[in-house]
Amino acid sequence: MREPSMETENGALTAATTTTTAVTSPPPMASSPRQALVERLKDYGQEDIFSLWDELSPDEKDFLVREVENLDLPRIDRIIRCSLHSQGLPVAAIEPVPENWVSTVDGRTMEDREKWWKMGLKTIYEGKLGVVLLSGGQGTRLGSSDPKGCFNIGLPSGKSLFQIQAERILCVQRLAAQVVSEGPIRPVTIHWYIMTSPFTDEATRKYFSSHKYFGLEPDQISFFQQGTLPCVTKDGKFIMETPFSLAKAPDGNGGVYAALKCSRLLEDMASRGIKYVDCYGVDNVLVRVADPTFLGYFIDKGAASAAKVVRKAYPQEQVGVFVRRGKGGPLTVVEYSELDQTMASAINQRTGRLQYCWSNVCLHMFTLDFLNQVATGLEKDSVYHLAEKKIPSMNGYTMGLKLEQFIFDSFPYAPSTALFEVLREEEFAPVKNVNGSNFDTPESARLLVLRLHTRWVIAAGGFLTHSVPLYATGVEVSPLCSYAGENLEAICRGRTFHAPCEISL
Ligand code: UTP
Repeated sequence: MREPSMETENGALTAATTTTTAVTSPPPMASSPRQALVERLKDYGQEDIFSLWDELSPDEKDFLVREVENLDLPRIDRIIRCSLHSQGLPVAAIEPVPENWVSTVDGRTMEDREKWWKMGLKTIYEGKLGVVLLSGGQGTRLGSSDPKGCFNIGLPSGKSLFQIQAERILCVQRLAAQVVSEGPIRPVTIHWYIMTSPFTDEATRKYFSSHKYFGLEPDQISFFQQGTLPCVTKDGKFIMETPFSLAKAPDGNGGVYAALKCSRLLEDMASRGIKYVDCYGVDNVLVRVADPTFLGYFIDKGAASAAKVVRKAYPQEQVGVFVRRGKGGPLTVVEYSELDQTMASAINQRTGRLQYCWSNVCLHMFTLDFLNQVATGLEKDSVYHLAEKKIPSMNGYTMGLKLEQFIFDSFPYAPSTALFEVLREEEFAPVKNVNGSNFDTPESARLLVLRLHTRWVIAAGGFLTHSVPLYATGVEVSPLCSYAGENLEAICRGRTFHAPCEISL
């Protein structure tokens, strides 16, 4: 069916078609933009997306044409084919991470910790640390229509994840300004790069501006968007969300590398003098954003990339773990499904602990140099992870595949990676699933925060009263008072707090 109005509106398409026709001998001239697109789509086996064309309104037709014009079909087709093809191919055997690649909690001395803390603060004072927040996920398991960062997990303060993280940045800035005595006293600024996706961008920006950036300077925050990819069926066909639009999803948290590069933010970092980049996921309430100790360790180690890890709680725990891929191969993360029962419960004879025990918790540090290299390397990698998820389609929710890169896909490109063990009860309180689920809920995260902060307050000489059992309550310490339990004596010693409550300045 011919749509003359569309033909004139879509100059770019007409021009492209004309050029092709002029240079090469026919394919026969397509009689409308829609037909031209159908011909192009046929090359990739995706022409079915026009199957309901005759039932669409003029606006819907226009929308669909623009949607398809904006797709980089050769790239998307390559990603779909390579990713589907790689499924079921034999993969190199895995090996445990060598013990000397990991800084364990037990292996660190008090001097190490103090040294790294000070090195980190000095580096932050010098403006060499940037922070990247991964906040483009759709948070489907949490079931909230707002971006995950806006979520209030029910702490006494009612603060959202974004607010807690912003206040941790404010706290580190203050600590860095105080601790460094050699340089001139001046305010310290940590630049915060917040990755959104088309699903979270507008709401995230509005949320920050309506909350006055939680006390941060508006110009110390840069929002940028990651890319999206069409969701596909198991045989690689695009899924339609409506008769005139494709179901799309963000391209995974590993989309951050390409997104930083495309948004020219790697250059922005360089122009600000940033050399190290802290990168983390939005959905961990205990995240130590811009952690000076981790930064100091990373610099001391001289690695190109690093990850915080926690010990697996039990052999069958469903978490990704760090391994080496192939004999002497690079570090990577494998899903729990890739470890069979025997491997998952294998014991290291020397330590008496699990051989594959280092869980990935999405807390990373990179040099800016490495980010520049990896953005180019990953671009050429067309094998994406296939996540089977519920996809909204014009026939209701259907099971389909999202194509994603993961943040840890960069590790095989790293000349050196260091792992840094942290205690899960101190740094990992994930918010993944709706309350009532078995684990990683807002409620479980809330309790983890209250328990940790209660321990801080008691260690600082404070007392608690409570009218509900202590295991179900506790106190919350504002990040504006303390980053990791330090400096609480002046506020807490000899005082009694009635839980639940927030201790703030
Ligand atoms: P998850 O893998 O838990 O995904 O993200 P999600 O989108 O938040 O939640 P579900 O799976 O739909 O329920 C881990 C971290 O990576 C970010 C998330 O925002 C979260 O901080 N992420 C995930 C992105 O930034 N982009 C993505 O494409 C996916």
